[in-house]
Amino acid sequence: MPKNLAIAAFNGRKITDPDVFTEVDLPIPTPAADEVVVKLEAISLNPIDTKLRANLKPQAHPKIFGYDGVGHITAVGSAVQEYTVGQRVFYAGTTKKAGSYQHYQAVPAHLTAAVPERPKATDLAALPLVGLTAWELLFEKMGFIPAINANAGKTLLVINGAGGVGSMLTQLAHWAGLNVIATASRKNFDWLTQHHVDQPLDYHEDWASQIPRLVDGIAILYAPEPYLAQAVQLIAPLGHIGTIVTPTKPLDLAGLKPKAASFDQEYMFTKSDFGVAYDSTKHILNQLATLYDAGVIQASVTHTDPFDLKHLITATKAIEAGHSVGKTSLFMKA
Ligand SMILES: NC(=O)c1ccc[n+]([C@@H]2O[C@H](COP(=O)([O-])OP(=O)(O)OC[C@H]3O[C@@H](n4cnc5c(N)ncnc54)[C@H](OP(=O)(O)O)[C@@H]3O)[C@@H](O)[C@H]2O)c1
Repeated sequence: MPKNLAIAAFNGRKITDPDVFTEVDLPIPTPAADEVVVKLEAISLNPIDTKLRANLKPQAHPKIFGYDGVGHITAVGSAVQEYTVGQRVFYAGTTKKAGSYQHYQAVPAHLTAAVPERPKATDLAALPLVGLTAWELLFEKMGFIPAINANAGKTLLVINGAGGVGSMLTQLAHWAGLNVIATASRKNFDWLTQHHVDQPLDYHEDWASQIPRLVDGIAILYAPEPYLAQAVQLIAPLGHIGTIVTPTKPLDLAGLKPKAASFDQEYMFTKSDFGVAYDSTKHILNQLATLYDAGVIQASVTHTDPFDLKHLITATKAIEAGHSVGKTSLFMKA
């Protein structure tokens, strides 16, 4: 029987403590009618793994976190038409089911997409969650057109360009023809340039005064509170300010009215949490797989380690420190 990693409250530690992780043996899941079971090759970590864990009350049973995953299908639910055993898929999964911190995972088939055999598993695992977030924010919420060079002449400002989401979003924006300005620490300017940022800005300095004109979109990939007032100043009439982090206090959006600018909120689990836009996740994952295969986007993986308790805790602590560049992936040992 495979050994799985799970978070369990019964070990006496607080659920907010990354040391709460413990190893448990679980049976291989049986797929529901609409699911596939995947033997995982690699997973990738995201801050949301921690955020959703930290908000939980102590659990009576082991609770498995993790969202990004890639692997081969070992069982197909009775209602799933599009897959057969042995196909390779990637996904960011759902908050409603056990996650990817395990060796065998049941996932709703409509939240997965087929991927080729050639790419490294640690690269493929790093694409879904940040890719879905960046795609939905840019093209579904902020109104940019998801096609090569379709937004030429427009400018996007990205707050936090070097993190996991930023490193994907700047690449997609460049592909879509946007001029990309992005903030990061100065030591990460080369990283920004490698990810198609046209104008890197150091967020520790007076970065806003270095932006020559109003911008068509502002993606705030950090808490909105410290950046909203500057964004309201910098956004062009009819522009979009897009956010992905939950505000912790009421936001003053009155300054957007004269410009008729929009304030957008993106959450990549909304579709699966509420059961809306059923086909859209697979569609976006297919687009991401195609762009990756064509070399248009890279996976931006900066750390790879084996998937085990020690490395999961180390990677979790690194993410919680809040200074990651790109992504961390963990691979299942043969
Ligand atoms: N809504 C959604 O669907 C969704 C999806 C994915 C992520 N998120 C959320 O979006 C946020 C970003 O995710 P991520 O994966 O990109 O995170 P991440 O990779 O952990 O971001 C780390 C980056 O944040 C930068 N940073 C730290 N302090 C900053 C500040 N004051 N201003 C601007 N940047 C700062 C760091 O730069 P330095 O090291 O140079 O300081 C570092 O490069 C997280 O809060 C995450 O939970 C939401």
